[in-house]
Amino acid sequence: MKRILLDCDPGIDDALAIALAHGSPELEVVGITTVAGNVGLEHTTPNALSLTEFYGMDVPVAAGADRPLLRAPDTASTVHGATGLGDVVLPRAGAEPEPRHAVDFIIDTVTSSPGEISLVAVGPLTNIALALRKEPRLAEWVREFVVMGGSYTRGNLTPAAEFNIGADPEAASVVFGAPWHPVMFGLDLTHQARATAEVRERFAGLGRLQDELLGPCLDFYGSNRQYRDEGPAIHDACAVAHVIAPELFTTVPARVDVEISGRFTSGMTVTDFAPEAEHNALVATELDRRAFWDLLTDSFHGVARA
Ligand code: BDR
Ligand code: CA
Repeated sequence: MKRILLDCDPGIDDALAIALAHGSPELEVVGITTVAGNVGLEHTTPNALSLTEFYGMDVPVAAGADRPLLRAPDTASTVHGATGLGDVVLPRAGAEPEPRHAVDFIIDTVTSSPGEISLVAVGPLTNIALALRKEPRLAEWVREFVVMGGSYTRGNLTPAAEFNIGADPEAASVVFGAPWHPVMFGLDLTHQARATAEVRERFAGLGRLQDELLGPCLDFYGSNRQYRDEGPAIHDACAVAHVIAPELFTTVPARVDVEISGRFTSGMTVTDFAPEAEHNALVATELDRRAFWDLLTDSFHGVARA
């Protein structure tokens, strides 16, 4: 069983990523850290706490950075709703966040189990950059580092930048500049993971999980203009799925550099697949859609049964 630490900004697809991690018999979730992103930290942290209670998880939630390293905070509340889960209002969690800051929680968790923790980041990379600055050995001591962010073609925040990278490009630059090989799940890949009507039919029978969370969240998320035609992209679950079943994805070695100064291209992940480039990442390019949705459906049933 792999041990996963998830840094996130819930967020509707983050909520599905957490459910996937919890419902998979292949994973033990050792912690969740939150960051400002889709909505402010004042929502992402309570959302993470409420989601873990709703799913029946007993896992620490540590709050992290409430703003990017240098830039003014931006949100994606038009996509995820004013409080981050569309129209869904989960009961307020009984549990409190961890007393430690997310950055310390990440460092302590990874350094106490060198080589064992799969670190997965599915929000802006502020916490991960700060953790690397405080403890550079993080880059050596994780088992693997998987990130949802970027794109090798086009963005969604701007024509050039994907949201998680564009929201905090300086942090992303630190993260891609560290001596590890992130597996990057950019939009080119995650736009292959669409919760179409056919996919959503498979969620019938999940009881409260479907009726009170997945159904209304995906209705809201899918009504966004960018998702109306082909169905909403469940970006963040792709990164978690890679920890469980890397064989579902084609990944290609590449050089990824983050643009931080471009007037029109700030936050772009400039990706070079040339064999002679100095590769610093594995970039996901192809998804086995059927196997991906089988995995999600099975895991969601695991959550619903618990
Ligand atoms: C990413 O940005 C957020 O809106 C989603 O949760 C996902 O992590 C997609 O660009
Ligand atoms: Ca996210």
